[in-house]
Amino acid sequence: MAAVNNGSERDIARRRGATAPPCTMVIFGSSGDLTKRLLMPALYNLAKAGLLAKQFALIGVDRAEQSTDAFRDYLAEGVRRFVSDTAMGGTTEPFDAEAWEFIAARMYHLSGDLLDNKTYSELGKLLETTAKEHNTNGNVLFYLAVGSRLFGPIVDHLGAAGLANEEGGGWRRAIIEKPFGSDLASARALNAQILKTLDESQIYRMDHFLGKETVQNIMVLRFANGIFEPLWSRDHIDHVQISVAETVGVEHRAAFYEATGALRDMVPNHVFQLLSLTAMEPPNSFAADAVRTEKTKVLGAIIPFEEDDVRRNVVRGQYAAGSVVGHPVRAYREEEGVNPQSNTETYVALRLGIDNWRWAGVPFYLRTGKSLTRRSTEIAIQFKNVPFALFRDTGVDTLNPNVLALQIQPNEGISLQFGAKHPGTEIQLGAVRMDFRYSDYFRTAPSTGYETLVYDCMVGDAMLFNRADGVEAGWEIVQPILDLWQRAKDVPLPFYPAGSVGPDAAEELLWRSGRQWRPIA
Ligand code: BG6
Repeated sequence: MAAVNNGSERDIARRRGATAPPCTMVIFGSSGDLTKRLLMPALYNLAKAGLLAKQFALIGVDRAEQSTDAFRDYLAEGVRRFVSDTAMGGTTEPFDAEAWEFIAARMYHLSGDLLDNKTYSELGKLLETTAKEHNTNGNVLFYLAVGSRLFGPIVDHLGAAGLANEEGGGWRRAIIEKPFGSDLASARALNAQILKTLDESQIYRMDHFLGKETVQNIMVLRFANGIFEPLWSRDHIDHVQISVAETVGVEHRAAFYEATGALRDMVPNHVFQLLSLTAMEPPNSFAADAVRTEKTKVLGAIIPFEEDDVRRNVVRGQYAAGSVVGHPVRAYREEEGVNPQSNTETYVALRLGIDNWRWAGVPFYLRTGKSLTRRSTEIAIQFKNVPFALFRDTGVDTLNPNVLALQIQPNEGISLQFGAKHPGTEIQLGAVRMDFRYSDYFRTAPSTGYETLVYDCMVGDAMLFNRADGVEAGWEIVQPILDLWQRAKDVPLPFYPAGSVGPDAAEELLWRSGRQWRPIA
């Protein structure tokens, strides 16, 4: 279990931007949707940018009985489709045959049952071959692009076959996809299981939100600019709103989603990533552990939910029939594979408090839902109101608060709302906005969001991955909510029309204290 020395965190930082070190990447679940839609296009983009080492090899493992040629053709199609799909982060640039050939020439397929020892002994032999033929120095990145029930068993098998062992000199790292557990107990059990085989430094727990440029930019905005940090506290901030609104419904994922729901699917992971980057204390460096410690600390300061808090401060909902961006949408209960009496929530909103010196008394309102009016992920920092006295005898009847809004997707940018005087003799105020759009300043490279994460794992930088304690801290916060929903049959599950902003009860969550949600725009 001894971890290979990657060099200091500073060495890692210096290596960033250079070609990744040699390695074989093993994808478990290589015929799956994730591999085709996201991983292969990400590898293609990395190859195109010259970030993959010449000493690179790729092994796909799954049950599909297919030759390496058939495997290549199958994945080539996914990459071609991505490259021209601008909605998916692709571009109108022509397909770069050279970049694809770079990967195709280094690609292998191994058919086998992921729960069978034989698959792993064959994988071991194939890894020796790739190490020799491609000079990969014995470095191996295992990517578990499989259903979550296979995470533990695959790691056990890797351990039993000696494939996770770094004593031969090369590094061995494993990227583990989401969902990491389905509650606190299962997340702890999974951590305990994989930590029997792997050292924490070998484990890269994925949260693809951290691959989004604008999510990473939260840290830069806060800590590279002198103007924000002095205002970033209970002294100046009234409340924070984090919204992750989706237009997609359950799609073809009923089997997964029915047992999961909006809370488990989005909150302890993606939404808490946004929350912790927004609320954490400044880390001492970008070293993985420095950042992850601060993120976990802030999650640990969230006031635990008692039963009364859950009833009062958590709202759930389920979409009924409606119309989303002009298209008719069936009710969730009528979607394919969904129980017609399903009590699975497709929307959740909650209010929580962080009990530390920076945030005590500042409510954080979080919401996420499917089949909503628009796709929009936004963090809005609303500043405290100023005294009104000065305006009492003018025509002004309210002063709008300042809001700093970080738009994470789809129109990435930052806007600042403030009051300005209407031209004229009277004192009349208008709420105006200063808008910064990423696309106005930066030319973004085509990206699925997985490029950074795969590359970071290759260079040994775990900053954008979850540590065991961070994952568990997230589950710990939502566990009382899951418990109450399971135990109490009287917790309302209101319907909201598809295409709306969510259930009315979510509006009430803010109205109660004289606040309101920002429009989902
Ligand atoms: C996934 C969830 O983790 O994130 C999905 O399982 C959700 O339900 C998706 O739609 C959202 O990610 P993105 O990148 O499309 O905003």
